[in-house]
Order: sequence, then structure tokens, then C-alpha cells
Amino acid sequence: MNTAAISPKTRILGTGRYVPEKVVSNVDLEKVVDTSDAWITERTGIRRRHMAADGEVTSDMAAGAGRAALQAAGLNVADLDLIIVGTVTPDSPTPSCASLVQQKLGAEEIPAFDISAACAGFIYGVTIADQFIRSGNANCVLVIGVELLSRILNWGDRTTCVLFGDGAGAVVLGQSKNGAGILATQLFTDGSLAGALHIPAGGSAEPYQSEGIGRQRHKVHMSGSEVFKTAVKNLTSASTAAVKASGLKSTDIDWVVAHQANMRILDQVATRLGFPLSKFVLNIEEYGNTSSASIPIALDEAVRDGRIKSGQNVLMCALGAGISWGSAVVRM
Ligand code: ACO
Repeated sequence: MNTAAISPKTRILGTGRYVPEKVVSNVDLEKVVDTSDAWITERTGIRRRHMAADGEVTSDMAAGAGRAALQAAGLNVADLDLIIVGTVTPDSPTPSCASLVQQKLGAEEIPAFDISAACAGFIYGVTIADQFIRSGNANCVLVIGVELLSRILNWGDRTTCVLFGDGAGAVVLGQSKNGAGILATQLFTDGSLAGALHIPAGGSAEPYQSEGIGRQRHKVHMSGSEVFKTAVKNLTSASTAAVKASGLKSTDIDWVVAHQANMRILDQVATRLGFPLSKFVLNIEEYGNTSSASIPIALDEAVRDGRIKSGQNVLMCALGAGISWGSAVVRM
């Protein structure tokens, strides 16, 4: 699915993030699993990740990022018409994380729902919010990407547990009146690859049972090399498609804010796109892979420290479980 608007209807009014205080280094992980700082750094680019405190839940982090984005936009919670949360780690299977965020922010009875598109959840959320605003059904939408992955990892599986971190990022989207905003979005899913990255137990196919819990069936399972290959291929093609749909040339793109999964994936995507790595906003070293939170956290950092400036064109792309992926081109 793709959408393109030469005259954008939706723009980013403010960005925000919340990352937990606790930092876990690769050296700390050497005490948990059979791994090494050298292996993790060389194979992934990750040096540290942030981890939620005991008692801290996904909706706490999401509400923190949401408040920061509202403040940056100069808006109040009463200005919101809709809350969308991209997450695969809600506080509990039901209700949605978005319902709890609505309550924690003190919002009125506006609609609030979650999207399950894993690492692509933020791009999916932004695309849906854009549709609500374009159609005139919403003026102001809070989109949050949040994950508390440390609680769904198998801490005995070195091939997955070293890769991820916890955090939240958010944007407030509103009507565009000045030519800035979302120029194009692209969404894709290939369910035939669903088994490459999944949590087998805890749903209708395999309800929780003590035997399955013992085998860590309710934790993340991944075929790393399969995900790696599909990530490089699809992040490249979705990025190319979004730039084309936006009506811009690739040389018009000032910044790439790509999902931070693995530095080697980002390197290969940059090479295939013909973009220098200096155009990429990179923070994987500090946070690891925060799934749906990774793009809005990186975006917020680059907006706040002045790298991304008003009027610049930003390409975003992400891929995760599903396999689902997507991209967006936004003029700030
Ligand atoms: N520490 C030390 N050794 C390890 C570790 C570890 N943490 N993990 C794996 N190894 C070992 C393996 O056991 C293997 O040993 P062997 O040769 O004796 O069998 C060796 O390292 C090489 O393993 P590979 O799986 O071939 O390593 P690879 O270079 O492919 O890197 C990785 C693995 C980092 C998981 C890579 O495949 C990857 O990044 N894939 C993408 C996955 C991803 O990013 N998923 C996140 C969610 S989806 C997304 O966000 C895009």
C-alpha cells in the first residue's frame, strides 16, 4: 500500500522520548550469557541498552514519551483527537496499551488503539494517523512507538537477548498548512515469513502451559540470518519506493532515520541506496534495538540536538516481525 501527497496534509508538530535510566552494557551481559563485548559490538554495533526498572510498565514509558511530544508541540492533552500506540509488549494482552496511556495522560474519551506491526509499528501508526487527518476525522493525533522487550526475551538465548532494549518515542501529528509534512508512506507485509521472528506461545495457537513456559516458548524466537537478509532487501526497496512516491530525488533527502536493528544492516542499506552513512541518524550503540520505539527515539534526539532542521526532508524506514515493513518521507 502506498500513499503520496505532493501537498502534504499532515505534519509533525512535536517529538518526544522516554528511555529508562538503567543502562546495561555488553560487559554486564557477559555475566548473564556466553557472549562478549567484542562479539556484540562487531556483529551489531550495540554497546549498551536501557532497561525498564522493576515495576515500570510499557504504558508508563509510552505516557512519558507522549507528554514530552505534547510539550514540544506546545499542546495540551485536551487537544488530542486520537492516540495510536505501536507495540508488541503491552502491559497485558488486553486492554490495549493505548487505553492505559489515555488514562495516564488524563485524555478525554478519544479513541485509542494499539498496532501490532513490531519494529514497523511506528511507521504503520504514522500512516494511519495521516489517513485520519487527511480525511478530516482528526486534527491532532499522538503516535507512540514503545517496547519493553527485556521482559519477553529468553535470557538464556545469546542469539536474541543481546540485541534489544527498552524505550519509547512519540510524535504529535496535526494539520499541515505550510507545505511541510508527510509526503509519502509505504506499508508492506509478507506473512509467509512470519516464523522468522515470533513468540510461539501465549496466543490461540499455543495457550500458556507450564511445559511450554519451561521451554521459553513465550519468549522471542528468531532466525537471525533470515531476518538480516530480508531487512536489507526490503528496507532498501521500501525506501526507494517512498522517495519516488514523494516526488523528490534521492539527493533531496537530508536525513535517513532508519530502524536501529543492526549496524551491518544499516551499512548495507546505505550502500544499496547510494547514501553516505553520514546522512543516517545513528544511536544503536546506546539503545540497541528498541523495535517500534527506535525511529521516534532517534528522530527526537536529532530534532532536539539540532541535526534535523525545519524544512529538511527525512526518510524513515523499518522492518520487523510479520514480516512487516514500511517507509515514509517527511518534510519537517
Ligand atoms: N555472543 C557470542 N556468540 C554468538 C552470539 C552472541 N551473542 N550470538 C550468536 N553467536 C555465535 C553463534 O552461535 C555462531 O557460533 P557458531 O559459528 O559456533 O555456530 C556465531 O556466533 C555466528 O552466528 P551467526 O548467527 O551466523 O551470526 P551473525 O553474524 O549472522 O549475527 C545476528 C547474528 C546479529 C543475530 C544477525 O543475524 C542479525 O543481526 N540479524 C538480524 C536480526 C535482527 O536484527 N532482529 C531484530 C528484530 S527484526 C529487526 O529489527 C530488523
